[in-house]
Amino acid sequence: MSFAHTHLLGIEPLSPADITTLLDLAGQYAEQGRSAVKHSDALAGLTQINMFFENSTRTQASFELAGKRLGADVMSMGMQASSIKKGETLIDTAMTLNAMHPDLLVVRHPHSGAVDLLSQKVNCAVLNAGDGRHEHPTQALLDALTIRRAKGRLHRLNIAICGDIAHSRVARSNIILLGKMENRIRLVGPPTLMPSGIGEFGVEIYDSMAEGLKDVDVVMMLRLQRERMDGGFIPSEREYYHRYGLDAEKLAYAKPDAIVMHPGPMNRGVEIDGELADDLRRSVIREQVEMGVAVRMAAMDLLARNLRAARAVKRPVMA
Ligand code: NCD
Repeated sequence: MSFAHTHLLGIEPLSPADITTLLDLAGQYAEQGRSAVKHSDALAGLTQINMFFENSTRTQASFELAGKRLGADVMSMGMQASSIKKGETLIDTAMTLNAMHPDLLVVRHPHSGAVDLLSQKVNCAVLNAGDGRHEHPTQALLDALTIRRAKGRLHRLNIAICGDIAHSRVARSNIILLGKMENRIRLVGPPTLMPSGIGEFGVEIYDSMAEGLKDVDVVMMLRLQRERMDGGFIPSEREYYHRYGLDAEKLAYAKPDAIVMHPGPMNRGVEIDGELADDLRRSVIREQVEMGVAVRMAAMDLLARNLRAARAVKRPVMA
């Protein structure tokens, strides 16, 4: 079984075999999540601390539930109201928490690279729950599992990622993951919302939905991340919806069985039509949320196995 990692900081360090191992285990947890008994004891005796320095509803809830279903002691810290506000640095906060001997630390932070830095200062497994515009690995993994279940495979698919690519860590992690699994990726959106240098990732770029969605298997919509914009990126939300908002008419350019995805939270009527988002014949948005719990269970389970193995080696053997 391939997954020799201490932390889950991004998709970048993962091999296709690592990704497959994780998704296979997550598939089993998804089954468990649909059964009457949802618990197991993979994390029994371990402590999981969630540190979210940015607002989050689904990701934080998902990690919390995942840890609880695996029997960990889970604590969630709302970092907005924490000592950070009193001037403590990220590293000081981390060192304080480290002294409480957590085994798994789940961190979301507004700055790209902050979670990586923190992982170098603590002696437990660190999971990146989103750092700035950099990576959001568990989101890309849950998207991958959702696609694999809907399409029966995770390779040689045509996938369109649409909208605010420039500000999106979800897009970045997905581009890396879907590329590693040998899919054809198209980025669709206004040129103002395309990051510079994106051509290097081996993707095709479109500024028209009609061309970009033509014959794709998967349409992944992104939230317009207004909190990361300092003005001037789009003329108006109405205009944006008209040109790039996904509705039934634009979806008709894609394959007849194309699925619709969105990481949430959604701006209905801005990047996606509300009715289409709720249409279970096309939209897998709810399944994405369900797979989120399963993927986080799998990620924490695999990291905990490695953590236990590493500690067993380090611990002196008593005669
Ligand atoms: C995403 C995020 O936080 O990066 N949301 C999520 O994790 N479900 C995307 C977003 O905020 O638009």
